[in-house]
Amino acid sequence: MTLPDTPQHRPAYHFTPQAHWMNDPNGLVFYEGVYHLFFQYHPHSSVWGPMHWGHATSRDLVHWQEHALALAPDELGMIFSGSVVFDAHNTSGLAPQGQAPLVAIFTHSQPSTEALGSPHQHQSLAWSLDAGATWHKYQGNPVLQSPGLKDFRDPKVFWHATTARWVMSVACGDHIAFYASEDLKNWSMLSRFGQAMGAHGGVWECPDLVALTLHGRERWVLLVSVTSGGPQGGSATQYFVGDFDGRTFTAEHADVRWLDWGPDNYAGVTWSNTPGRCLFIGWMSNWLYAAKLPTAPWRGAMTLPRELQLREVDGHAWLCTPVAAEVESAFQSGSVIHVQTSHDLSQALANSQGRCRLTLTADAATPWALQLSNAQGDIWRLHYNPETRQFAVDRTMAGQSDFHPEFATCHMAPRLACSSVIHLQVYLDACLMETIADDGLSAITSLSFPSTTWTGIEREGNVNISLQTL
Ligand code: FRU
Repeated sequence: MTLPDTPQHRPAYHFTPQAHWMNDPNGLVFYEGVYHLFFQYHPHSSVWGPMHWGHATSRDLVHWQEHALALAPDELGMIFSGSVVFDAHNTSGLAPQGQAPLVAIFTHSQPSTEALGSPHQHQSLAWSLDAGATWHKYQGNPVLQSPGLKDFRDPKVFWHATTARWVMSVACGDHIAFYASEDLKNWSMLSRFGQAMGAHGGVWECPDLVALTLHGRERWVLLVSVTSGGPQGGSATQYFVGDFDGRTFTAEHADVRWLDWGPDNYAGVTWSNTPGRCLFIGWMSNWLYAAKLPTAPWRGAMTLPRELQLREVDGHAWLCTPVAAEVESAFQSGSVIHVQTSHDLSQALANSQGRCRLTLTADAATPWALQLSNAQGDIWRLHYNPETRQFAVDRTMAGQSDFHPEFATCHMAPRLACSSVIHLQVYLDACLMETIADDGLSAITSLSFPSTTWTGIEREGNVNISLQTL
């Protein structure tokens, strides 16, 4: 069934494709001043199907331009998730002498058939010499065959400077395998991680191993998405903090840690070639109900770009996901409404057409709440309970939810920070809501589909609110 167009749900400062189905971000690379965002894309339908790579670019991480398709399925299969690296020294030899290619490392996936048996997933290469506009598939594909596993996908590759070689993380069903290569074409296995670690409510997907610094010391963080069993039901992304010695990843904790406590931040990975920064973006959906979301002609959005950082609280290193500084400065140069009355605030919200940022400063010792409402009686509510030290985002009455029985839910997130004042932002962009507290220590990313624009804001308790537009 085709849905009527829903311009009221189209976000203004998040990426959505003009039309059709999108899932995971792929091939994130910063190259010649441009952020590239490739993505899992079905160009002929608004549900998942034969996967292609779509392509979009941005110079400021706020405004995105969509381009022609980058990769299409072929006789080796569909084009599943993967990464892109800038092969500055042409280690792959894929570029003519004296040139340097962008190289995509992706999964070729063939669905199970009677002849094949279980799905066949292998890692393959493509390269570009024109900044990602056109791609050539490598003749020798696949470069890494599945070692007999049903699930063997989502290669994420980075240059490991200490051992001077490429390292790939790849998802193998219930664990992550690491491989190394000097030329991106020949890969040898290094180690495996995770069979007895972390959350295993579903299949492991989309790994990413990144180096971050805490107190001047390098630490490694492994992101792993899991198809089901997330903290709010359905899919979610967990992370492990630890060490990587060039061969083996060792986690320094046994507890399960979630990158985001909301239901709608999945399959996120980081940009390559951004020295000194670690920029992340996720698919703002959940496999539970992704195919049912009431948006048209597009289905699927990305989160805001977030900057991954480590912060120490109570002697532990936690991953924070504050929104990228570029998005912050775009809001700072927009208009700010410091509001005296709920009426003024509601007026500003209505004028923004539900596309704005709310900045809250709240007392951590007493309960408080923020509530959005509209003319149809929908209510979206955020509240904080100082006794349990939990935030809650409640979308049970926030508009349309009849498309899936598990959509109308309330989402709790622990507060990790200890300061007496809570600083929190709600990025509201039509149907997309990102609630980021304490500089990204607690994040709740969630969708909601109000029947009409939010026009009312109310607060309870000791909380100050201002509103910014772009
Ligand atoms: C994650 C995922 C990946 C796979 C892709 C297929 O959402 O399932 O594991 O490569 O989506 O579209």
